[in-house]
Amino acid sequence: MKVFIDTLGCQMNRLDSELVAAALRRDGHELLAARDGADAVLYNTCSVRKHAEQKVLSRLGVDARQRAEGRRLIVGVMGCMAQRLGEKLRRANRPVDILCGPGQLHALPEMLAAAAAGRPATALDPPRTQPPDQAAEAAMDRLDAGRDPHAGESSARAFIRVARGCDNFCTYCIVPYVRGPERSRDPRAIVEEARRLAGAGRGEITLIGQTVNRYTWTAGERTVRFSDLLARVSAVAGVRRLRFVTSHPLDFTDDILHAMRDLPNVVEYIHCPAQSGSDRMLKAMNRKYTRAAYDELLARAREIVPEVVLAGDFIVGFPGETEEDHAASAELIRRARYKNCFVFKYSPRPGTAAAKTLTDNVSDAVKRRRNNELLAVQQEAGLAHHRAYIGRTLEVLVEGPSPQTRKPAAAHFGRPQLVGRSRWDHVVIFDGPAQLAGQYVDVEITGAASVTLFAVLRGNDESLNRPE
Ligand code: 5AD
Ligand code: SF4
Repeated sequence: MKVFIDTLGCQMNRLDSELVAAALRRDGHELLAARDGADAVLYNTCSVRKHAEQKVLSRLGVDARQRAEGRRLIVGVMGCMAQRLGEKLRRANRPVDILCGPGQLHALPEMLAAAAAGRPATALDPPRTQPPDQAAEAAMDRLDAGRDPHAGESSARAFIRVARGCDNFCTYCIVPYVRGPERSRDPRAIVEEARRLAGAGRGEITLIGQTVNRYTWTAGERTVRFSDLLARVSAVAGVRRLRFVTSHPLDFTDDILHAMRDLPNVVEYIHCPAQSGSDRMLKAMNRKYTRAAYDELLARAREIVPEVVLAGDFIVGFPGETEEDHAASAELIRRARYKNCFVFKYSPRPGTAAAKTLTDNVSDAVKRRRNNELLAVQQEAGLAHHRAYIGRTLEVLVEGPSPQTRKPAAAHFGRPQLVGRSRWDHVVIFDGPAQLAGQYVDVEITGAASVTLFAVLRGNDESLNRPE
């Protein structure tokens, strides 16, 4: 079959899609990059905010209409949205052949075969109040371990899952309900995965987990902390850059900062969401730290790792957020000197503590204004951050042609503008030949905007700088 996996959401979803794609390919299916001509469409969807789910519901509506008009198309929903809504996703006017929870992805090849034979298939995770399904856990571990190290979004980068689930229960967040309790993976499996990926040329590795810095594995007397895991993975031959997302401020102990300082391939980049700058909001969000503790963390990070680059997330319009609370978030952004920030309008998720006990009492217009205000503050902070790199030479991993090529083609001699990433995750735009994709090159930073750096290729190979 020709299968298209439509992925919306976080890095975890992107990795899940990559693993499922590999399993389906092994089963003889062809994976498509777009939905045209597909025999089956699988939506791998995020439930963190309403918006992504609405997008998928409307795409499911289009699929239903096409089927009603006679198109043969298998439709599946996998991941968080399938888990959250379950059978409710199925309606007479919205056929869904496959419903697959985030802990059941190993079953997808079989489910696809069942759907092809006309039998709808459902595999959802047990609710987190029940003991985990050990057989499913083991099968998911095999899915991670059995991945094709050569197949993925990038030939030079890869994600490795170090933990699944979350136990934090931030009051706004659906993740603990749909991805279940937090469980870390065996460090030997993680190291082996890193070895295979690096061996296949994918030496830029991102360890992912919902609260990645809380990773912990106990075997007998010994406990492997997250900093120990960093040391083990960083020692794998061919691991050139090692990063990790997303961190919780509460779990950012000094040993992790020391690992970042001392291990040369662990990059000095921390994505550590604050969510709000106001203690009142942090408490209502059940973030379990205060603004002062967050400020202290940033100061400690800067002291131990002077080159550290920070990124954050904020939620605006959480129930009860006043102008004063909002001003505290703006002030935090001004002071934190983040490289970039993601700002989200609060979106009540049914089943979460906030949705159950608090009224969504900040109007959408106010959420929108506060969102724009925080983005404007970050824009300034981001510009200042990026400007500080002008004149420096950075090594970037070239991703490929820049999607937002601004210059007219004629101005750059027929060469595409390329986009690359610095070790600190800066987006760097420069002119160069497309065949550099997947390689590390040195560039000199010549300009800056609020989320991008502009550069010229330096290179030992002068031919790269000549017009073709
Ligand atoms: N509404 C808005 N933003 C949310 N996030 C998580 N849950 C919600 C929600 N209900 C944001 C947080 C988190 C990021 C992944 O998504 O900022 O860090
Ligand atoms: Fe959600 Fe909080 Fe867990 Fe992050 S740490 S996944 S925001 S509950």
